[in-house]
Amino acid sequence: MTDKKATLSIEGRADAVELPILTGTLGPDVIDVASLTGNGVFTFDPGFTSTASCESKITFIDGNEGVLLHRGYPINDLAENTTYLETCYLLLNGELPDGTQKADFENLISSHTMVNRSIEQFLSGFSYDAHPMSIMCGVVAAMSSFYHDSLDIANPQHRKITAHRLIAKMPTLAAMCYKHYIGQPYMYPKNNMSYAENFLHMMFGTPCEEPNVNPVLAKAMDKLFILHADHEQNASTSTVRLAGSSGANPFSCIAAGIAALWGPSHGGANQAVLEMLNEIGDEKNIDTFVKRAKDKNDPFRLMGFGHRVYKNFDPRAKVMKEACDEVLAELGMENDPLLKIAKRLEQIALEDDYFVSKKLYPNVDFYSGIIMKAIGIPTEMFTVIFATGRTVGWIAHWDEMISNSYKIGRPRQLYTGPSERAVTPIGDR
Ligand code: SDX
Repeated sequence: MTDKKATLSIEGRADAVELPILTGTLGPDVIDVASLTGNGVFTFDPGFTSTASCESKITFIDGNEGVLLHRGYPINDLAENTTYLETCYLLLNGELPDGTQKADFENLISSHTMVNRSIEQFLSGFSYDAHPMSIMCGVVAAMSSFYHDSLDIANPQHRKITAHRLIAKMPTLAAMCYKHYIGQPYMYPKNNMSYAENFLHMMFGTPCEEPNVNPVLAKAMDKLFILHADHEQNASTSTVRLAGSSGANPFSCIAAGIAALWGPSHGGANQAVLEMLNEIGDEKNIDTFVKRAKDKNDPFRLMGFGHRVYKNFDPRAKVMKEACDEVLAELGMENDPLLKIAKRLEQIALEDDYFVSKKLYPNVDFYSGIIMKAIGIPTEMFTVIFATGRTVGWIAHWDEMISNSYKIGRPRQLYTGPSERAVTPIGDR
């Protein structure tokens, strides 16, 4: 809190309105407008471009400087020097684990990796080619039906085991979606494997062969999960918070987050990037697509570019690009035609005045799709991978809200519909 105030003078009103200004650790001050309703006015901010919806200690983004901190640690530092489960521990608890805490947390998560066998019945109800995000929305929401013993959201222990169950089971569920699609047996998790190694084993392993996961790909997968772990109050995290503010159970809140993430403007962009690169098909077609992206009358946008907050390089994109080069080198795919198109598009975005003036840089989704395609993951699974990595961020924000005082989220509106009028009897209509 500070003594700083904003004074609002409203035309036609004698008295100015004084509003408190709050200052955080980092980032812009905020004007507390909660009392404005008492003065008969609302704020109006569709898309929340200038609205801080909550106070949080988890993640900080400076869009102009291209900074992303999780509990104060820069994302590139975390990506290079921690594992995904260490970053999960950090997001949930506020501090990085020491050696013992890391080992205990890994064992704890491993003990929750299996899902109830009846989840297989849920998947069998979906057609083989159902989009896996539709399956994930359904089965994650249904998970609340298996844990009646730990749905008291006011109980910190219930909140903690729910967070662990979700982090542990998302890779298992994601891999089950893929196996359902290709008609192969589901693979059980192997608790002696690391998180990302286990995920790739459940995705690409079969009961007929011994586990054989490429460590370079497992490391890249773990880094990919870290880069997707959290991102402040983005659309899906805000959805989780809003659903949670009604007291809904955490599994249904996370399912709401999965639904919001699915959109091509948000987490669905990684699938849209690959579809765009395939549609471009050849470097000679790039200029045509760039022209379309600039055309106000053409709904086409360069997927993987631009961001509501980053008006500089998305720091995750830089790390993702390095991981992309490592994976393609390991697989002998340095001359991947899609990568060549991607690198040419990035160069254009950094030089062309349209993109430079609108500060449209590659975002986290631009290179992630190329890595996942190289690993052998089908495009329909890309957003499922994003959801798997982001689950820890969603549940950390949900827990932060529920463990502090909170109100049900209930925005107001600017009403521009008809004034009151009487119903005309049907015979006279
Ligand atoms: C994620 O919020 C998060 O933190 C999200 C995320 C996370 O980790 O949770 O970072 C993950 O969602 C990354 C973003 C993935 N989406 C895409 O890559 C889809 C393509 N990008 C655009 O749809 C767009 O850039 C958004 C949705 C990401 C941001 O949109 P904004 O902030 O509402 O910006 P805008 O639409 O107002 O665009 C500003 C201008 C517009 O032109 P003008 O009206 O000013 O003339 O830039 C143009 C837009 O037309 N523009 C683009 C463009 N993105 C914006 N033009 C061409 N190609 C693009 N990709």
